[in-house]
Amino acid sequence: MKNLLWLLGIIALVAVSGVIFIYSGTYNISATVPHNALTHWIMSTTMDNSVKHHAKNIVVPDLSDSSKIKMGFVHYRAMCVSCHGAPGVSQEELAAGLYPKPPKLVRTIHEWTPAELFWITKYGVKMTGMPAWGPTHSDDKIWAMVAFMEKMQKMTPEQYKNLDIELKKDQD
Ligand code: HEC
Repeated sequence: MKNLLWLLGIIALVAVSGVIFIYSGTYNISATVPHNALTHWIMSTTMDNSVKHHAKNIVVPDLSDSSKIKMGFVHYRAMCVSCHGAPGVSQEELAAGLYPKPPKLVRTIHEWTPAELFWITKYGVKMTGMPAWGPTHSDDKIWAMVAFMEKMQKMTPEQYKNLDIELKKDQD
């Protein structure tokens, strides 16, 4: 009984200290101060596992169609390059000030399956600056972006530039 009272006392003390800490304002919420190692581990491990869990039953459509890849390129160029860059294209200043910093996707796409890329793009990532594109884009358009990202990871800057030129020709 005595031990249980001690345990409850310690739990109450930790809870009260937590609330005092939150209200004290001493935690630095600035985007220029990195998380400590523990918070960083909690955030990134939660993100990785959440994406894997939620994407596991998504059925991937055929992504090899060249018109789909082209449509994906148009959307990627319009909405993603500023934060994530592309082969031969740097991220914009906006990305440098974000925390967490948006990764250069050319380097990280191989870490995700197409279903996971679809899930991240459709639903976004809370409290990171990664928007959910599902509220404004159909699944078809999001799959098109996934199809493009899969191709992009092996593209040279010249191949990326050529897509731009090809697209302008199509529009003429
Ligand atoms: C305003 C900036 C911003 C824009 C625009 C943006 N993203 Fe992101 N994105 C982020 C941030 C920040 C992260 C990092 C999230 C994290 O650390 O968990 C991210 C993460 C991702 C990831 C996971 C990458 C990884 O390796 O962890 C994918 C995939 C992704 N974004 C796809 C897209 C696509 C596709 C678009 C365009 C439709 C897009 N993003 C537009 C900010 C952005």
